[in-house]
Amino acid sequence: PREPLQVTINGKPYFHDGDPTMPLLWFLRDTLRLTGTKFGCGIGNCGACTVLFDGKAMRACVLPMSAAATHRITTIEGLEGEALHPVQQAWIEEDVAQCGYCQAGQIMAAVDLLKRKPRPGDDDIASIGNLCRCGTYPRIRKAILRAAE
Ligand code: FES
Repeated sequence: PREPLQVTINGKPYFHDGDPTMPLLWFLRDTLRLTGTKFGCGIGNCGACTVLFDGKAMRACVLPMSAAATHRITTIEGLEGEALHPVQQAWIEEDVAQCGYCQAGQIMAAVDLLKRKPRPGDDDIASIGNLCRCGTYPRIRKAILRAAE
């Protein structure tokens, strides 16, 4: 019998003794009921499932549990401390969301970008590459620039 995998999610340890190739996204949504992280394409293209993996943006639909184990995973639910994260605050102030489906992934990707590039340029923002079917890109850009202030 194999050892259960230990995964640290939003600072808490969890164990998974099922299929190690199962995508992290299923564990988050189905096992832990952390449904802020969304399923879009399931093939790593759209970014709706973006979480932080040791602080870096990562697409949870293509991240097997075995690769997530022993790393620090942060979901949108884990972003807030006492208050909203500054990126979330900027999202509200710029009224970014339209349907909202992709926005948790957008916010997680923006958090990663701002950590790497505290003064991001348009190319940096475009490089995120998370898709939004409502086309909220101009407001995403504004919110990222606001959060960078
Ligand atoms: Fe993971 Fe689209 S659902 S990238």
